[in-house]
Amino acid sequence: MRWQGIIHRYKKYLPITDETPNVTLNEGNTPLVYSNFLSTLVGHGSKVFLKYEGLNPTGSFKDRGMTLAVSKALEAGSDAIICASTGNTSASAACYAARAGIKCVVLLPKDAIALGKLAQAMIHGAQVIAVDGNFDDALGLVREISKKCPITLVNSINPFRIEGQKTGSFEICEQLGMPPDYHFIPVGNAGNITAYWKGYKEYKKAGIIDKLPKMMGYQAEGAAPIVRGHIVKKPETIATAIRIGNPASWKQAEQARDESKGVIDMVSDEKILEAYKLLANKEGVFCEPASAASVAGLIEYARRKYFKQPATIVCILTGHGLKDPDRAIKSVEQPKVVKPKLDLVLNEIGY
Ligand code: F0G
Repeated sequence: MRWQGIIHRYKKYLPITDETPNVTLNEGNTPLVYSNFLSTLVGHGSKVFLKYEGLNPTGSFKDRGMTLAVSKALEAGSDAIICASTGNTSASAACYAARAGIKCVVLLPKDAIALGKLAQAMIHGAQVIAVDGNFDDALGLVREISKKCPITLVNSINPFRIEGQKTGSFEICEQLGMPPDYHFIPVGNAGNITAYWKGYKEYKKAGIIDKLPKMMGYQAEGAAPIVRGHIVKKPETIATAIRIGNPASWKQAEQARDESKGVIDMVSDEKILEAYKLLANKEGVFCEPASAASVAGLIEYARRKYFKQPATIVCILTGHGLKDPDRAIKSVEQPKVVKPKLDLVLNEIGY
């Protein structure tokens, strides 16, 4: 049957009624790709899979939450949405607002957004405001604005975002035929780890799965408030998507970690870039740097011999590599320029 998006597929588990409109671009149903290289690295006959969320309509996992948040906003009679964003939320909000025919306002930290994401927000017709501050400042502003004005907040503090995003867990359980033993995920504002944990718990309660994975969250070293146990005033990382110093779902992320007996840890930018390039070079999977934080965490834990027996592991690759073309180009040797002569080209390519 034709895939018609996560609301259609998972309506039984979502807070919708027959009256709820379905603003969809057929998001979800993303591939779960086996990683030979990472499976070998982890060893013990383990199997590592990459949930390629970059293949959602706007190139990130945000679409799972946005389809529901925008549909519920329409149902409630709202004609405008607003968000703060490190980029992907704004791209998704702008896109779904365009589809719904409503206004969209996005507040972005100035000069800290990957180019592809900014292009998306703009081309979908959102009103883009660059805030001379960081994501946390922008989130504070949109919280206030949405309280004062008739405009719906679509950051992940909107519970419908979490509800939509939890469908990622449902898909993983169906694709594997069981839940994974470990769920590796990057952590920024901490909505996604909260959503996945909720999804797994709901499938267990419904009797569809009989065990729960350990939730393994990774922040960037320069933006690791949960790991450090305090707000980071000036978060810094090349993984701009998770450059967040005061996550909105901080408590819920800790709850996911503690209930699942998992971990929230941090990885350096160097390790993030190493994982980013490895995925592109060895697996043919191009994700954005923030997504590679989960894989950097897995590589680090495999090196530390964290895994003692065969495990099924899923890493969430949250966003597509094309979101941040500057980073890709900066990460590799620049192309050699040659005169248009056959012998010169042959010489360069070693024939
Ligand atoms: N990976 C990517 C590619 C993201 O864009 C984000 C968050 C995360 C991971 C972290 O997810 O916030 O639920 O813990 N991006 C938000 C945004 C903050 O504005 O696009 P989280």
